[in-house]
Amino acid sequence: MSGGDAAKPSDALVFFGATGDLAYKKIFPALQRMAHRGKLDFPVIGVAKSGWTDEQLVERARDSVAKHAGLDEEAFKVLAQKLRYVDGDYNDPATLERLKAALDKEGAQRPTHYLAIPPSMFGTVVQRLKDAGCQQGARVVVEKPFGRDLESARALNEILHKVFDESAIYRIDHYLGKEAVQNILYFRFSNAFLEPIWNRNYVDNIQITMAESFGVEGRGKFYEETGVIRDVIQNHLLQVVGFLAMEPPSSHASDAIRDEQAKVLRTVRELDNTHMVRGQFRGYRDEAGVAKDSFMGTYATLKLWIDSWRWADVPFFVRAGKKLKLSVTEVIVEFKNPPQVVFKEPAFSQGNYVRFRLGPQVQIGIGARAKRPGEGMAGRPVELSVVQQQTSDEMDAYERLLGDAMAGDATLFARYDTVEAAWRIVDPVIHGPSELWKYEPGSWEPPQADKLVAAVGGWNTPQ
Ligand code: BG6
Repeated sequence: MSGGDAAKPSDALVFFGATGDLAYKKIFPALQRMAHRGKLDFPVIGVAKSGWTDEQLVERARDSVAKHAGLDEEAFKVLAQKLRYVDGDYNDPATLERLKAALDKEGAQRPTHYLAIPPSMFGTVVQRLKDAGCQQGARVVVEKPFGRDLESARALNEILHKVFDESAIYRIDHYLGKEAVQNILYFRFSNAFLEPIWNRNYVDNIQITMAESFGVEGRGKFYEETGVIRDVIQNHLLQVVGFLAMEPPSSHASDAIRDEQAKVLRTVRELDNTHMVRGQFRGYRDEAGVAKDSFMGTYATLKLWIDSWRWADVPFFVRAGKKLKLSVTEVIVEFKNPPQVVFKEPAFSQGNYVRFRLGPQVQIGIGARAKRPGEGMAGRPVELSVVQQQTSDEMDAYERLLGDAMAGDATLFARYDTVEAAWRIVDPVIHGPSELWKYEPGSWEPPQADKLVAAVGGWNTPQ
């Protein structure tokens, strides 16, 4: 078993699936940015079975950064010098022997192996890594989807644990690498004024919206096997729920944060169909790779309950969908209204809240009320802006996560128990039949979803 070496940085990056989509869209651009910051000081070995040479991999990397990041000649030169290619079938021991020889040639003793390949290949690759002695002192980075339900996630964990210790396994959820998501954690635990009101006594409800105005963009086949709950809710949005709802961690240490994350997800009640509304945008069934009678949801609202001392009876609404009106991801923590005994105004439609905009911009705002100018004591909603940030130098999630994995910092990676706890929540509703409502592309959602939120006065729709 390999436990990795948390104290020492890795000295080589190996990525399986070097000629694939993920490498093209995310990994090369992240590596170029690392080079730009002077952080790319290790060899990068791509493995695939495309019959390529080192030069072809460099060309692919050049294309990738030109398309997805902008070519930065100087940084790219550094990346090109670091790139090596190992060709072969993952199931063939000779491939891994070539990899071992390439690592030895570089003098690498603590590689990070990034599995940018389908999960069905994980078992083969980790076993072959072990057979070739490439797992010694190594870490392994795996991509989502991490299973397609609780059972398959457990099976995948077992496969990985046969070769790697949990401390050496880094499961990527790129949401955790986002500046705005980390800011939830920072904002909550570095401000004294929030903690006394961050609970069921003051919070009325919490709403999380991840709206995307685009559709499945050529990923029809993938989406048919996934659907919105597996694609973005079980992983990204439940991690966000965890950050919003967790108890204060005992420190900033990676396991202290992940312990609280796992703890809170374990207290989220399992879903049933009465707490979910699913939708499918009109036109989805005409997408390439999608069945004409597809029953896959491209939209869902879930109403979650957290059975903890802090959150009992506070509904958490989570909604996500494709082809909605806007592309925006936002959290609204809505507070209870004060008693209307002084000014006797009609019930406010908008009272106090904290708003975290997670994308496309990073924003934090606090909703308050102020007097409307003029006679009488009537108010209007105002927002105090805490953060408005859109820096060009912001670290991309993949750059951040790759850097952390190389450095051995697992804080922003999903631990097996968090992943399993998140699957447990959605597992009861992802297998069986449930209603599916059509919605128009460019709308906010199927109207049936409004019923779930009616009791809290409806959605706080992002603008
Ligand atoms: C991915 C999903 O994990 O996250 C996509 O597969 C989704 O369907 C994407 O569009 C959203 O991430 P981001 O960072 O673009 O908001």
